[in-house]
Amino acid sequence: MLTGSAFSSSQQETIQREFSHLKDKPVFNFNTAYFGPSPLRAKNYMLEMIKEEMDSTYLPYQNWMKTPHEIRESLSKLIPVKKENIFHSTSTTDTNILIAQHYPFAADDYYCVFEGEYPSNVLPYLRRAEKGHFKVKILELPPEGEPIDVSYLQKNLPTKCKALTISHLSFNSGRYTDLSVIGPYLRSRNVMLFVDGTQFVGGHSLSSKEIQYADVYNFSTYKWMLGGYGHAFSYFSDNFFNKLDISHGNWLSEISDVARLTDYSMVDSKNLRPYHLDRGQAANRLLMSALKGSLELFHEIGLSAIEKHNQSLAQHFIKEFQFKKFKLSCAKEEIKHIVCLTCTDKNLNSALALSELQKHQIDASVREGNIRLSFHLFNELPQVEKLLDVLSSTV
Ligand SMILES: Cc1ncc(COP(=O)(O)O)c(C=O)c1O
Repeated sequence: MLTGSAFSSSQQETIQREFSHLKDKPVFNFNTAYFGPSPLRAKNYMLEMIKEEMDSTYLPYQNWMKTPHEIRESLSKLIPVKKENIFHSTSTTDTNILIAQHYPFAADDYYCVFEGEYPSNVLPYLRRAEKGHFKVKILELPPEGEPIDVSYLQKNLPTKCKALTISHLSFNSGRYTDLSVIGPYLRSRNVMLFVDGTQFVGGHSLSSKEIQYADVYNFSTYKWMLGGYGHAFSYFSDNFFNKLDISHGNWLSEISDVARLTDYSMVDSKNLRPYHLDRGQAANRLLMSALKGSLELFHEIGLSAIEKHNQSLAQHFIKEFQFKKFKLSCAKEEIKHIVCLTCTDKNLNSALALSELQKHQIDASVREGNIRLSFHLFNELPQVEKLLDVLSSTV
């Protein structure tokens, strides 16, 4: 049994209040890896924003232009990177398209990913590679139970590998890769490390020990960050940004003085930083309002307490689950807040098991044949007990 809670009683009250809408329907949500529910305060900020949108009389520039900067600043207090190195993107795909088009790869350079990597990290590069700008190599995953470590990379990365993308937490197996283990080796070989943190950040904290090795770190915010669909954060290191062959010009991220909108020399191009890359008019007010709410909540509760809570639920599940017809989809030691189960019984499949869960009002997903269970701050121990009960009595 679990003892104690990672949250104080006032934090528990806050979480209960902010997710009370989930209790209005008899569904247990173990599906944050698909879409994370937003806290109630996100809804309230969105409603305020809609009111303003419907009647924008006297809506001064100053009230909304600075919003993307404020949100960026708030994020930079949660993860250990400078706010100047973060930009607002519309998706992980969006940022990868930007990199694939603007990083000066040589024609014989390899961009590498592991098989089963999320398409946002593959398709933008495959399309660009079709035009001969560089090559893409899909690497085999290590044999079952073995980690992605330095010796595996030594054997499997092609000599001309220029960049490797890895999901910090895999969407279809729940496998976690420690960037501080592979980072020094990649650096020593001059291989850039691009990381997809979509399934990681928000469910877990991000340490400087790990992110220091990332040239790029992207994460879509509609899952564990509890934002809305259509937004992602991207971190570019200065070193990486300076190598990009990109010409950008976005009045909203470059101009701060609205009395001088047509003074086009406001930002000297020599002083451009990654944050100037804010995609399009990423100050989408609906998404910014949702994020404002969820970031506030993350600050109040703290990512390390959330990480502890999520992992204790996931570990409790693993400890109590009777692995008769399923096995874990990755090694036990690699599991954080997503548990994926591979069906080992030929008379059952994951889709059937999922429909049994759904009949009992349990929401989860199946990805690439594995049942995927997500454990986030609003999940509670009795819900995990119910999940265990349903699984043991039906499958
Ligand atoms: C690992 C990972 N990356 C990215 C995404 C979403 O990407 P995008 O923002 O490009 O739609 C998902 C969605 O499931 C994911 O699991």
